[in-house]
Parts: sequence; structure tokens; C-alpha cells
Amino acid sequence: MQLLLCLSALLPFAIQALPSPESWSVRVIPTSFRAAREAGRVAVQYLNYHSGSPHHLVYLDEVKKATVKTVPEIGNKFYIEFTTKDYESNQETGTCTAAIFYHTAYPGPAVHVNCSSSRSLKKAREDDYNFYKQMKKQTIPISGEDIPDSFGFIDPDFIGVWYLAIMGSSFAMWKETFEGRSYTMAQIKNVKQLLRKDDYISFDYDILLHELPTEEMVSCNLHVVWIPGRPPKVDYHCTHKLENGSGTEPEEGSTFLGNFK
Ligand SMILES: *[C@@H]1O[C@H](CO)[C@@H](O)[C@H](O)[C@H]1NC(C)=O
Ligand SMILES: *[C@@H]1O[C@H](CO)[C@@H](O)[C@H](O)[C@H]1NC(C)=O
Repeated sequence: MQLLLCLSALLPFAIQALPSPESWSVRVIPTSFRAAREAGRVAVQYLNYHSGSPHHLVYLDEVKKATVKTVPEIGNKFYIEFTTKDYESNQETGTCTAAIFYHTAYPGPAVHVNCSSSRSLKKAREDDYNFYKQMKKQTIPISGEDIPDSFGFIDPDFIGVWYLAIMGSSFAMWKETFEGRSYTMAQIKNVKQLLRKDDYISFDYDILLHELPTEEMVSCNLHVVWIPGRPPKVDYHCTHKLENGSGTEPEEGSTFLGNFK
């Protein structure tokens, strides 16, 4: 509220100083603003999905700079600079700049992101391949539930399956994000491998996403098909759990079919 008042008080001067409406609509926002972290979060989901490497995941560390530009009747475009950390080792992995363009009319912002990373891909590629090879040789499909469990524990045999769920759900979370509504991965409720005759490995997941800022839990069915070195093929369907326990209600846009061509 205070910021709004302050901006409108400054507007007449800004217009005089900067004749183009394009330029006065660009403003710096404090990096502590929820919107700045939300923009960083969706940029990281975009990165994790596109990396194609479940052992090369990162998470958002710090947002260093944030500006937003309003495009009237279309939406807001955020420009941010942020740092990331490695999901496995918690070590700093580098700095990224990103442009996130939220459309007011539909979810799934357009994301452009560049990162400078000091991290080597070699170890991640090896871990990816070992996980892939192990899954490929299963004659009985693996299955599991509650990953992590209520103590936050993940059975080491399911680490790869968990990372693959994060990479696949990153696609769904990115595609469901609106400005002011974002997601984090909470838990795998169930997972079942689907044996395939081709070169891919495939899993069917029931997962829980944590919606922010509503704090709601959203359950999604996620079908992930993957081969090392490529982003996964993802198909998903999400439903909001109602707090009063009356069941589930289809979420708007939940018929989205993923990126299967
Ligand atoms: C990413 O890098 C390209 C090439 O240097 C540049 O044109 C683009 O503006 C950059 N994008 C962002 C979001 O930093
Ligand atoms: C539960 O919540 C939904 C949506 O808020 C509402 O439509 C429904 O009537 C509620 N059901 C009960 C039993 O309170």
C-alpha cells in the first residue's frame, strides 16, 4: 500500500522526466518481495526441467536484483538476477539472469534464463546413467510410496526416482504458475515404474505439490518418460484438495496434456 501511494505521488514527475510510458512502467522491486522469489522459483523450475539431468538439479538461493515492467493488458515481465545451489551438495552453483513474463490470462510464464556455472556436468551425467541402467534392467517394475516419509527420510534406492519426480514436476509447476501463485514439490505419494521395450524409462507418480501463498496441497498424477541427456516427456493432471474434506475438484487447466508430441 505504502509503495503504491509513493509511486502514484511520484508519477506526475516521472512522466515529465521520462516521456515514454514504456520507461516509467519499469520499476525496481526489493529482492525480499514475494514476487521476486516467485520469479526466481519458476526460473529454477524451468532450468531443472530443461537440464534433462535429474542429478544436476538446483534450487533458488538468493535473489540479488529484481525489476518489473508492466505491459498494459498483457501482464508483468520480471527481470531478475539470482544465485542457485546444488540440490545434492548444497554448494553454490553460480549466478543466473532471467526474464519471466507472466500473462494475466493464462498460466505458464515465458522464461528466458542464462546461468554462469562453475559446476561440472560429468559426475551428474555418470549418476544419471547409473540410475538409468539400473531402472532399465528391472524385470519387475519398482514401486514405492511416501517419498520422503513423514520423518523426511528417503530410502537411498529411491533417490533417483525422487530426483526424476522433481525434474518432471518442475515442468508441471512451471506450466501451472501464474503471477502470485507458485508451487514447490512436497512428496511422492505413490510411484510405479512402467516397463518399456524401447530405450526410455517411465514412471507413474502420484505427487503432492505445495501451493504458495495459499498453502494448499495439490495432488497431481504425473507420467514421466525419460532417457539420459534429454528433458523428460511429461504428462500431468492436477486436482485441488478441498480443506473441508468433501473430495476433489478439478483444477482449472488440469486437462493440460503435457509435452508429448
Ligand atoms: C541471455 O543471453 C543472450 C545472449 O548473450 C542475451 O541476448 C539475452 O538477453 C540473455 N537473457 C537473459 C534473460 O539474461
Ligand atoms: C466444501 O468447500 C467447497 C468449496 O469451497 C464448497 O463448494 C462445498 O460446498 C463445501 N462442502 C461442505 C460439505 O462444506
